[in-house]
Amino acid sequence: MTIAENWTVKSQQDVAYSVEIVKDVLDVSNLALVDGESGARRLIVTDNRVNDLYGDRIRAYAQTNMAEHRLLVLPDGELNKNWQAVETVLEAIDNFKLDRRREPVIAIGGGVLTDVVGFACSIYRRNTPFVRVPTTLMGIVDAGVGIKTGANFKTGKNKIGTYFPAVGNLLDMSFLGTLDKRHISNGLAEILKIALIKDERLFSLLEEHGETVLASHFQEGTDYEIEIIARSIAGMLEELEPNLWEHKLERLVDYGHTFSPNIEMKALPELLHGEAVNVDMALTTAIGLHRGLVNRDQAETIFGVMHQMGLPVSHPVADQRLLLQALADTTRHRDGKQRLPLPVGIGNAVFVNDLTEADISAGLKLVAVLGAKAASAIAPQVAGSEAAPVASEEPV
Ligand SMILES: NC(=O)c1ccc[n+]([C@@H]2O[C@H](COP(=O)([O-])OP(=O)(O)OC[C@H]3O[C@@H](n4cnc5c(N)ncnc54)[C@H](O)[C@@H]3O)[C@@H](O)[C@H]2O)c1
Ligand SMILES: [Zn+2]
Repeated sequence: MTIAENWTVKSQQDVAYSVEIVKDVLDVSNLALVDGESGARRLIVTDNRVNDLYGDRIRAYAQTNMAEHRLLVLPDGELNKNWQAVETVLEAIDNFKLDRRREPVIAIGGGVLTDVVGFACSIYRRNTPFVRVPTTLMGIVDAGVGIKTGANFKTGKNKIGTYFPAVGNLLDMSFLGTLDKRHISNGLAEILKIALIKDERLFSLLEEHGETVLASHFQEGTDYEIEIIARSIAGMLEELEPNLWEHKLERLVDYGHTFSPNIEMKALPELLHGEAVNVDMALTTAIGLHRGLVNRDQAETIFGVMHQMGLPVSHPVADQRLLLQALADTTRHRDGKQRLPLPVGIGNAVFVNDLTEADISAGLKLVAVLGAKAASAIAPQVAGSEAAPVASEEPV
């Protein structure tokens, strides 16, 4: 043994977790939620909205398949994604006298709920396993498949949180049947993100079926519904897996997330996360067109798909000043470089570090043109008449 006065400790952490699409997770004969073990003890956490819709089924499931359970109901919504919610979960875990080795907490809800429960579990005794059951499209394709947990703190979105995988992620698309259309659009934005940066086939599926899945809430059971969800998750996981702790700052999945944090926070509560992401993607598509990375046809097609999926391409708060500030903030978080993903055609992307004020200004002008064209192209046709004027369209 050498006596020294400084030491370097190196260690690696293996991570393994499962993500699976399951059918009717609340069916009493489906034991996925209790990992095949009937007679378990479980703490279940959900939010008040999900409780209103699914509370009876959750309770019936627990009564049939669990020896003992407690259902904790948190208030829903982004404004309740705070430390108080985390503390409520910590208290419930403590009161339940949970055996950490065999009694994972079950989180059933949207991204807000699963982020908060995951955060509480990660800090209770430093590690209390949890199972995630996302009930929104945003949860199924994004919040419910990675390892980030968190809550908002002061004015900062997700300012506190941890990297902590759920032991199991059970994705049940039947929950989407009760979700309102706007939240379907919201999740479609994150699916479109994956399509634009790395999956041309996924983009074609959205082009062909985006409007249909928005109307059907993915409840038709068609092959394309499954393919859209599965390709989106596969693409997401392919990007996350080699970079789970985000040491590498050039992340393709940050596409749409350069300008959007500032847009989302400034517009709150007017824009949902996915809507702000879409405003960012519309701008960066337009900048791609300006820089010759995307051609006119491709840009028009992308704006058309955004419009069909009910997503906004601009918002009054997203002006030149805010966008420049957002770029500066993101550059700071990305260790001094922009590392900005820009689309190359449809299905590819490139990172750039030289975006200028002039690019943003040109992008904003192109967004106005492309947005108006997409809105007028999809205007309802009255037999024998011209397309309805743009002004009568739903706002983009
Ligand atoms: N951890 C991550 O990697 C990650 C990724 C993306 C987003 N997020 C976070 O996720 C949050 C957004 O998630 P969200 O869009 O799911 O919002 P949300 O959790 O606020 O849910 C939206 C609304 O839908 C309700 N709801 C949930 N399931 C429903 C259902 N099946 N039927 C009807 N209503 C239902 C909720 O009660 C809520 O009112 C944000 O806080 C964001 O930061 C996290
Ligand atoms: Zn996002």
